[in-house]
Amino acid sequence: MQVRKLVIPVAGMGTRFLPATKEIPKEMLPIVDVPTIQLQIEEAAKAGIEEVILVTNDKKECILKHFKEDKELEEKLEKAGKTALLEKVRKINNNVKVLSVKQTVALGSANAIYQAKELVGNEPFAVMYGDDLIKGGCALKELIDVYNKYNGNVIGLQQVPHKLTYKYGIVSLVDEDTLEINDIVEKPKVEDAPSDLAGLGRYILNSEIFEVIENLKTGAGGEYQLTDAMKELMTKQKFYGCKFSGTYYDIGSQLGYIKANIMYALDRDDIKEDLISFMKDILK
Ligand code: UTP
Repeated sequence: MQVRKLVIPVAGMGTRFLPATKEIPKEMLPIVDVPTIQLQIEEAAKAGIEEVILVTNDKKECILKHFKEDKELEEKLEKAGKTALLEKVRKINNNVKVLSVKQTVALGSANAIYQAKELVGNEPFAVMYGDDLIKGGCALKELIDVYNKYNGNVIGLQQVPHKLTYKYGIVSLVDEDTLEINDIVEKPKVEDAPSDLAGLGRYILNSEIFEVIENLKTGAGGEYQLTDAMKELMTKQKFYGCKFSGTYYDIGSQLGYIKANIMYALDRDDIKEDLISFMKDILK
């Protein structure tokens, strides 16, 4: 079955980025001048996703508004002859249908994804975390290719330094060629990490994950964790890894956010040169 739908949970509290995220969702913080969530939807469009389901809450209304047409703004830009800006505003959702469901209490990633059960139905679907930005390539497309090859669930992976494995969900592989996975451990002690391969914010899951979540117990932080649900589903279905080609930025952390801004700015012809000379100056 084709992967047509993508669930992006954006109902977390963003506590690591307070006070900025007290009123502004971290997914709306701009990378240069584009909100992170818009970059995520650009990736989805490139991967052929037709429908994005945002899991939001009442404090995140501005994310939904960002993807709605704003006739007044468009008319003003048109009258002022600002056609380039008008184009930018018009292509915000990249022809992808954006729907939403609510998670009333932030009970964890698995609980957030569960809210999309009815909209997803009985088909395989993609999951992307709102704050895990991947620059270059199209990670989601690479994962979908792996899904289509093996017809199993897929986890987006990247190698992390061994001493930092305690920060991530770390997988254990059965086979180095197919990257078949038989276990995932959330934030292991460094000495217990089964590998240096971390699951980083991109997944393709079969709809049976919803049944697993219904019976899930709370895990780390007293929350319902997607990692625990996937670990359970691994006892019934196959999982494969996809070492995606792009560079990963955790924009939910200050350093990740700043690095992403610099790297995206260096891609911009209108900014690159001045930014480089500024950096050279301050590093003298
Ligand atoms: P994170 O754990 O990175 O987000 O969840 P968080 O909880 O908002 O961040 P901190 O640690 O407090 O700073 C990954 C993604 O899952 C969403 C978040 O919005 C984020 O995009 N999420 C998390 C939910 O939608 N609901 C939840 O209950 C938890």
